Parts: sequence; C-alpha cells; structure tokens
Amino acid sequence: MKKKLYFGSNLKMYKNVAQTIEYLGRLQELTADLDRDVFTTFIIPSYTSLDRASGLIDQNLILLGAQNMCWEEQGQFTGEISPLMLRELGLKIVELGHSERRHVFGETNEMMNLKVKAALSHDFIALLCIGETGEEKDFGVSDEVLRTQLIMGFRDVSPAYIPKIWVAYEPVWAIGVNGKPASSAYAQEKHHVIRETLKEIFGEEGASIPVLYGGSVNPGNANELIVQEDIDGLFVGRSAWDAENFNALIRDAIRTWRENEA
Ligand code: 13P
Repeated sequence: MKKKLYFGSNLKMYKNVAQTIEYLGRLQELTADLDRDVFTTFIIPSYTSLDRASGLIDQNLILLGAQNMCWEEQGQFTGEISPLMLRELGLKIVELGHSERRHVFGETNEMMNLKVKAALSHDFIALLCIGETGEEKDFGVSDEVLRTQLIMGFRDVSPAYIPKIWVAYEPVWAIGVNGKPASSAYAQEKHHVIRETLKEIFGEEGASIPVLYGGSVNPGNANELIVQEDIDGLFVGRSAWDAENFNALIRDAIRTWRENEA
C-alpha cells in the first residue's frame, strides 16, 4: 500500500515572474487544507522566478525545485547554474534529465549520473526523469532503455540517499502538445519494471523510492493512473498550469485513491 501521494508540476519555459508568483500563491491557498502527511506537492518554475517564489511559498505546503543543475559548484560553465546557487535560494528539489533536456539539449546518462550525485551531496531531493522514445517503444526495447537510464543515472549512489531520491517515468511519446497519454495499464507495467530495477540497484529499500508518472496527465486519466499499484504520484505539465484546475485534479485523485484503498 502507498503511504503517500505526490503531485507536482514542471512549468517548463512558461510563465514570467509575476504569473508564477500569482499561480503559486493561488495554489498554496487552494491546497492549504490538504493533509501533508499523505500528500506532497511541488512546483518547478523557471530559474528567474525562484528567488521570489522561495520568499513567498511555505515549503511545508509546496516544495520548490529547479528544472536543471550543473554538477560543478563553480567554474567556466557559461549558462549553467551551480548547486550552491540553488541552495542559496532554499530550494528542496532538483529535476534532472527531463526528456526535453535529454532530447532537445542532448544530455546523456553519464551527465545524469554526475548531476544526481551532485544534487544528493548538496542535500537536494534528486528527481530523475526517465522515459523511452516512441521509436524505442516500437522496437520493443522500452524496458532496456528504462533500466539503462536508472542503472547509469544511479551508478555509485549510496542507498543512504534513498530518502532523497524520486523518479519520474515520462515516456517521451506521451509528453506535451503532440503527446498521447500512456494507458494506465502500460504505465503500471513500466512502473513495475522501474520498481524492480530500483530494488536491484539499491536493495529492498529501493522499493520505497517514489515513482511518479508524467506525460499528458489530465483530469480524464489522473484517477485511473493514481490507483495503479506502482504509481506513487503524478508529474503534470499543461493540466497543472492553472491553479484551480490543478487543485481540482489533485483533490479528485486523492478522493479516488482513498475510495480505492478503502
Ligand atoms: P504534459 O503534462 O504537458 O504532457 O507535460 C509533462 C511533463 O513534461 C512534466 O514534466
């Protein structure tokens, strides 16, 4: 049985500072009464909004994260953001390896491994995103791809860091305006592969790592996804970018999960 549910959103390269602050303030207000013992929510806005957001948001209610991070603390890395700079803002989460980072900007599994280790050693929650492309799915190698991304991403990561590790399964073909959501059965099947691989990497304790599903989550599929045995949470893009809509999606999903557990 799942002990806790996770609902988060990556705002990608949308919303300016004022829009982000308004959105976060509203979401915090709307979700303030939800029981944080059973539910964690997090938002990952643009870098430019992070300073004001961390001043405004109570991270006991909504955790804040960054969309990417360099593995080095400082140096000749023009355009990159250091773990120390993100720590300075009091952020809790660093998202690593989103499909757009891997497929638009060419980030590799080797880079993920460096970033995961840097994020953990700087005391962030490392949210590692993984997922197969449509082509890999058609070739029937999805499980191999997911296993590779996990095994390489977490190479030499001590099991002592398990409480600070989250994984998001986001099939590349399911993400964004041209994406087609994975069926709940397909998502469950892949989440199970991920769970088993995490046990292989970290031992039995690896099973406690939250694994979130992302890719065209919407009010029509969130409930059937959240009740799947190996899906611990939902990582939402477009359907979360309006605070009212995201609040409704979260409440509906929690209600459905509770009914299902009863
Ligand atoms: P969409 O929900 O818009 O498909 O985006 C998912 C995502 O990329 C979350 O990181």
